[in-house]
Amino acid sequence: MKALIINGPNLNMLGVREPGIYGHETYEDLVALCERVGAEAGFAEVACFQSNHEGAIVDRIQEALGAFDGIVINPAAYTHTSVAILDALKAVGLPAVEVHISDVDAREDFRQVSFAGRACFARVSGEGLSGYGRALALLAERLRG
Ligand code: DQA
Repeated sequence: MKALIINGPNLNMLGVREPGIYGHETYEDLVALCERVGAEAGFAEVACFQSNHEGAIVDRIQEALGAFDGIVINPAAYTHTSVAILDALKAVGLPAVEVHISDVDAREDFRQVSFAGRACFARVSGEGLSGYGRALALLAERLRG
């Protein structure tokens, strides 16, 4: 089993960016966590991709077809705006889990909409970086049937 983790804009700034909301751990800490927890969940490969560019995220989702069994995605701000990312997830049809570090439901109104979430079978929100671990466990469970 192979999982692709996709992180959207400003998540490369973890540790610096609004630590009261996103915590003090860095993007490198997140990658290490995903690799460790992914292996524990039974993934032979966990690849992490981060981009601040919508089109680059669409390209990476398309490239995942035939290369990965499932996707864990935090589209960050694009969650709330991007039909292109939703369409890419629908186009490849890979099982996907949406994850957010903060509890988006408890934040501003404009964060209440998720386009990408419409193509995901599960959502983890407000569990900090450990939410990625739960998302990977849910994906592994789904892939094992
Ligand atoms: C986020 C929540 C989004 O609303 C925000 O734009 C982000 C991060 C989260 O992980 O909590 O950049 O996806």
